[in-house]
Amino acid sequence: MAIVLRSLHLMMILYISNIPLSFAQDESQFIYNGFNQANLYLDGIAEIRPNGLLQLTNISNQELGRAFYQIPIKFSMISSLSFSTNFVFAMVPQEPKLGGHGIAFTISPSRSLNGVASQFLGLSNFSNIGLNSNHILAIELDPVRSLEFEDIRNHVGIDVNDLKSLELAPAVYYSNEERRNISLELISGNPMQLWIDYDEAEKLLNVTLAPISTPKPNWPLLSTPINLSQIVLESMYVGFSASTGVVACDHYILGWSFNKSGQAQSLDISSLPKLPPRRKRKDKRIVVIRALLIVVMVVLITITGATYYLRRKKYEEVREDWESEYGTHRFSYKSLYKATKGFKAREIIGEGGFGKVYKGTLPSNEQIAVKRVSHDSQQGMKEFVAEIVSMGRLRHRNLVRLLGYCRRRGELLLIYDYMPHGSLDRFLYSNGRRHLNWLQRFRILRGVASGLLYLHEEWEQIVIHRDIKASNVLLDAEMNGRLGDFGLARLYDHDTNSQTTHVAGTIGYLAPELTRTGRATTYTDVYAFGAFMLEVACGRRPTEQMEMPEELVLVDWVFECWSKGDILRASDPRLEGNYVVEEMVLVLKLGLLCSHVNPAARPSMRRVMQFLDCDADLPNIPYDSSSFGRVTSSETLDFLWSPPSSFVQPSNPSMSSTVSILKDGC
Ligand SMILES: *[C@@H]1O[C@H](CO)[C@@H](O)[C@H](O)[C@H]1NC(C)=O
Ligand SMILES: *[C@@H]1O[C@H](CO)[C@@H](O)[C@H](O)[C@H]1NC(C)=O
Ligand SMILES: *[C@@H]1O[C@H](CO)[C@@H](O)[C@H](O)[C@H]1NC(C)=O
Ligand SMILES: *[C@@H]1O[C@H](CO)[C@@H](O)[C@H](O)[C@H]1NC(C)=O
Ligand SMILES: *[C@@H]1O[C@H](CO)[C@@H](O)[C@H](O)[C@H]1NC(C)=O
Ligand SMILES: *[C@@H]1O[C@H](CO)[C@@H](O)[C@H](O)[C@H]1NC(C)=O
Repeated sequence: MAIVLRSLHLMMILYISNIPLSFAQDESQFIYNGFNQANLYLDGIAEIRPNGLLQLTNISNQELGRAFYQIPIKFSMISSLSFSTNFVFAMVPQEPKLGGHGIAFTISPSRSLNGVASQFLGLSNFSNIGLNSNHILAIELDPVRSLEFEDIRNHVGIDVNDLKSLELAPAVYYSNEERRNISLELISGNPMQLWIDYDEAEKLLNVTLAPISTPKPNWPLLSTPINLSQIVLESMYVGFSASTGVVACDHYILGWSFNKSGQAQSLDISSLPKLPPRRKRKDKRIVVIRALLIVVMVVLITITGATYYLRRKKYEEVREDWESEYGTHRFSYKSLYKATKGFKAREIIGEGGFGKVYKGTLPSNEQIAVKRVSHDSQQGMKEFVAEIVSMGRLRHRNLVRLLGYCRRRGELLLIYDYMPHGSLDRFLYSNGRRHLNWLQRFRILRGVASGLLYLHEEWEQIVIHRDIKASNVLLDAEMNGRLGDFGLARLYDHDTNSQTTHVAGTIGYLAPELTRTGRATTYTDVYAFGAFMLEVACGRRPTEQMEMPEELVLVDWVFECWSKGDILRASDPRLEGNYVVEEMVLVLKLGLLCSHVNPAARPSMRRVMQFLDCDADLPNIPYDSSSFGRVTSSETLDFLWSPPSSFVQPSNPSMSSTVSILKDGC
C-alpha cells in the first residue's frame, strides 16, 4: 500500500513539474557550487545573493534564516538510511571573535520549524524542545557557549530532537599532513567545509571539519553511533538553519552537495561564489584614533616638509658651473649663517654704501667680517668673481685680506679678515671715542699709501681701488691702517650696457674727470687718496655742510688757508697743535697736489710714498686756485649743486656715502 501511495505521489510530482522520469532518482542527490537556480525553499531573512551565495542571515539582530531543499528526501527502511553530504560555510561576525549564533545542518520533517529567532539556532521553540516527536537531527556549528546545554565555545555538536548535544567536540580538524589536530575558529569569517556521512550498516554518523583549502581529513571530528531509524520519518527535508543573536553574524553557505544513494560528490572549490568584502569594524574609537593618526601624520609630514623646504630656502645659494674652480674661495651660505649667528643685528659691525658688514666666527675660531652686498644683476658676475678671487691672492700688511665669497639670489657675500678696531672714520668723527694722535695718523697715511702703491704697481696686475675713503680704511690690532673693499666698486661698473655707465665712488673723493669720462684710473685713485689725506689731517670730511660757505669743500678750504699763508689753520683742532709741523705741512700740501684737477699733475703713488718717506722734496705747487678742488670748476660745481636727473641720491643725507652716477655711454 505504502509503495503504491509513494509511486502515486511520485507520479504526481513528475506530472506537475514535468520532470523526465530518468530524474526521479535524482531527487535525492544534488550538487550546488553556488546557489543560482538552486531548488531551495528560503525562509526568514535568508536570501540568495546575485553571485549565488546563500546568505542565511545578515547582520540584523535577532533574526533567523533557513534554506531547505525544496523536495523532501525519502528515508525509507526499504532502501537505505545512509546519506552523505558536504557543504562549505562561513560565519562572518560583526565584531571579530564575538559573535553570533551558529548554523545547523538540519534533517527535519517540516520546512517551517517552530523556531524562535535568536534561540536554539532557529530550530526549536521553548515548548517543543527535547521532544522525541520533533524528529529532528541537527549538526550544529556553534561559536558560543550555552550554559543550559552544557556545551563549550566554538564547538561542533550532534543534536537529536534537543539542543543539548548528543555528542560535541571543539572545532578542530585532523591534518593528514601534520598528523595532528589543528583547531579552527568557526567565526573567523573564513570559509570551511563540513562532511556528514551516515552509514546505515555501521549506524555511525561521522562529522568531519576542515578549512576550505584542505582535503577531507582522514579522521572525522565526530564519529557517533546513532540509530537513525528511530529519528527520521519517511519523508524528510534537508537544509540549513541559522539565527543571529545580540551580537550579529552573517551566515553563508557557499556550496552544497548531497547524496542519498552514495558518496556525495566533492564540491568544486574554485567555482564557489566569493564572500562579500569584509565590513570594516565601525568602532568609533578606532575611527577617531585612525583619523587622529592620519591628522598627526599629515601634520608631521607637513612640518618636516616645510622645515626641509625652509631650511633649503634659508641656505639656498646661487652656484654655477664656472665657480667650481674657486673651490676654497667659495664659502657656503650655511657656514656664514652659522658664523654670524644667523646675521643677527647684534653682529653688525659696519654699514656702508654697499651693504652691511657682520662679524662672524668660523668653526676654526677664526674671526671674519662678512659683507652682504645686494646685487641683482647676474651680468658680469663671472668676471667679477674671477677678479674677487684673484684679489684673494693679494698679500700686503696694509690691505684687508679677502678670504672668499658666496653668492645667493640678488646677493653677494664677501668674506674678509676681521679688523678688531673697525674703520678709521669712526675714530676721526665719533665724539665719544678717543681720537687718534698725529703719530698714529701719519703712520696710517703711510700704511694706506703703501697698500695703494702695492695695488697700483707692485702686484702682478694693476688694481684700481676706486673707493678710497676713511670708512674703507680699517684698523688692525696694532692700529695699522689697512685698505679694504678694493675692487668692489667694479661690481657696479660691471653693470654696464651700451646705454649707460655707472660710476661708483663717493662724492668728495671722485676726481673731476671721473664724473666726466666714467673711467677709473690710478690717477682717480690718487685724487681720492689726496682727499683722504686732507681728511685725516683736518679731521673733516671732504665735503661737509659748514656754517661758512667757503668751508664746504675741504680742498678749497685747505687751499684758502694755504693762500692766506696759514695752512696749519686747516689742521684738525682736536690735535690741539700736537703734531710735527713739517709732517702736517707735507700732508696738507701733498693732499692738495693729489687733488689737482689735471690728472697728469698728480703724483703717482710711488712718488707719494717717496714724499711721505721724505725721500723726495715736494715740488712747487702752482699757486692757482683753478688747479685745485672744484669751486672754480663750473663743471664740478654743477655736479655738486644741480645733480643730473640720473644722479642717484644717497639714502644717507651725509654726502660722503657711496653713490652711483649714471652717465651716457662713454
Ligand atoms: C538583512 O536582510 C533583510 C531581509 O533580506 C533586509 O530587510 C535587511 O535590510 C538586511 N539588512 C542588512 C543590514 O543587510
Ligand atoms: C512551539 O512549537 C509548537 C509545535 O511544535 C507550537 O504549537 C507552538 O506554538 C510553538 N511555540 C512558539 C512560542 O513558537
Ligand atoms: C582529534 O580530535 C578528536 C575530537 O576531539 C579526538 O577524538 C581525537 O583523538 C584527536 N586526535 C588527535 C590526534 O589529537
Ligand atoms: C566513520 O569513521 C570511522 C573512523 O572513525 C570509519 O571507520 C568509518 O568507516 C566512517 N564511516 C563513514 C560512513 O564514513
Ligand atoms: C534501531 O531502531 C529500530 C526502531 O526502533 C529497532 O527496530 C532496531 O532494533 C534498532 N537497531 C539497533 C541496532 O539498536
Ligand atoms: C551519488 O552517488 C552515486 C553513487 O556513488 C554517484 O553516482 C552520484 O554521482 C552521486 N551524486 C551526487 C550528486 O553526489
